[in-house]
Amino acid sequence: MSKKLWGGCFSKDIDSDVLDYTLTTDVDKRLVRFDIWGSMAHLVMLGQQQIVSDATVGKILPSLLNLYHKNKIGALHLDRSLEDVHLNIEALIINDVGAEFGGQLHTARSRNDQVVTDTRMYLREELLNIQRALVDFIESLMDLADSSINDLAVGYTHLQPAQPISLAFWYSAHASIFLRDLERLADAYNNTNRNVLGACALAGTSFPIDRELTRKLQGFDRLIEHSLDATSSRDFIIQSVSAFSIMMSNFSKLAEEIVIWNSFEFGLLKIDDAFATGSSIMPQKKNPVVAELAKGRSGRVYGALMQILTTTKGVTLGYNCDLQEDKPLLWDSIETVKSTTNILHRHVVTSTYKSDRAADLCWKNFSTVTELANMLVKNKEIAFREAHRITGLLTRELIDRGADLRDTLFVQHFLRGHAIDATEDEIVASTSPVNVMTKQTSTGSTGPDSVTAMLQNLKIELNIFSTQMQNNLEKVRAAEDFILKISNDVKAGARIRDLLLAAQ
Ligand code: ARG
Repeated sequence: MSKKLWGGCFSKDIDSDVLDYTLTTDVDKRLVRFDIWGSMAHLVMLGQQQIVSDATVGKILPSLLNLYHKNKIGALHLDRSLEDVHLNIEALIINDVGAEFGGQLHTARSRNDQVVTDTRMYLREELLNIQRALVDFIESLMDLADSSINDLAVGYTHLQPAQPISLAFWYSAHASIFLRDLERLADAYNNTNRNVLGACALAGTSFPIDRELTRKLQGFDRLIEHSLDATSSRDFIIQSVSAFSIMMSNFSKLAEEIVIWNSFEFGLLKIDDAFATGSSIMPQKKNPVVAELAKGRSGRVYGALMQILTTTKGVTLGYNCDLQEDKPLLWDSIETVKSTTNILHRHVVTSTYKSDRAADLCWKNFSTVTELANMLVKNKEIAFREAHRITGLLTRELIDRGADLRDTLFVQHFLRGHAIDATEDEIVASTSPVNVMTKQTSTGSTGPDSVTAMLQNLKIELNIFSTQMQNNLEKVRAAEDFILKISNDVKAGARIRDLLLAAQ
């Protein structure tokens, strides 16, 4: 005879290698709190629907509450021989209150709807944590932008000097990118925060359950009504990990800029000593390992996405054990994206951009010559293509002479050779990097006025997301507080029906 909770029709116990191969107790540690919460909600619903008696609820609910507190202080350990979190919690209840009562908890429920429920509850909390961390990061980027509106930076295309930009323009670019990540996280949250409990094994149940009640008690926003869909659903995981992957890709680009600009050759960014490591042989080295690892770790998250996509692509509807493989890499991608958000945030705020070096580079690398051509168009009625040609020739001559656009006398002389009279003021106004950066006024450009306007818009958008995130957090917390309150009240002798009525 098998000793398993499911062992009725088995003639012997599971092979120990098979148990090792199939168990998930380590992976499921993160689900304990949610498995207990979900069990509380399920039991309250069973009581309310009179599927189990008040006496049964009165026995099991305080026992679940006890497990909840035990888990909170780290004293609840999962027994590997019981396979997974679901069978562990059920067994603990049966041990505590006896099989006559405890054996009723699994009425109208299956591990198939339980595992999706638990994973959704866990993931929604982590999605909120990650959103919070990203909101903080974006806020810091906006603060940095606020205080660097007039500071110079070098703007690149092809990693070749292109045009002068403000430092605020660079910071706010990343803020603007990350806001879309925030939007993707919010979408993933909406798809994740749905109730699947009550779908049972796949087909629903003949018991008169109330899935709307368990939805409320678990703090889910909506229901996935279709039971076969609900128990098979893993797209919320794919959506979340793909949002994480895009986030990591965006982080990786920022990290690459940190690495390059921090190099001796560029010398545009100084990273904090606490964010670098040295070499065991070369005393002069300060290596930007945090940024390098942020880049490297994006591969881990992409790997998780590929693994989950692959696992879920070839299964029939209805639970298949293949799906059990979804969690380890989901956990890993959550940890990676959370730690990368936090460390990169700190890395950026502790690094210093060197605007004086940027100004020097902008002069030396001719990054303002486009504006000189613009000046010829605006002030001298020359077609842009011709202005481009003339200033291109000028650039080549200056390079040959080992000079740059600061040699205004030569610039004036050269332009005169092309029948163009330009004053020194005209030349300086269209060649000095700060002047040129300030002149950019089109919507979304790098000039102070447009960056200030963009920052205002980004702040409004950020505020919408962060308010929504805060509301979601509060809704989830309120649901958890409510189930704990019900459990406490039942322990003190109250009846489910009265408690739910009073709460309406
Ligand atoms: N441990 C499983 C998982 O993580 C949940 C149990 C699924 N049900 C089953 N009949 N094995 O996906």
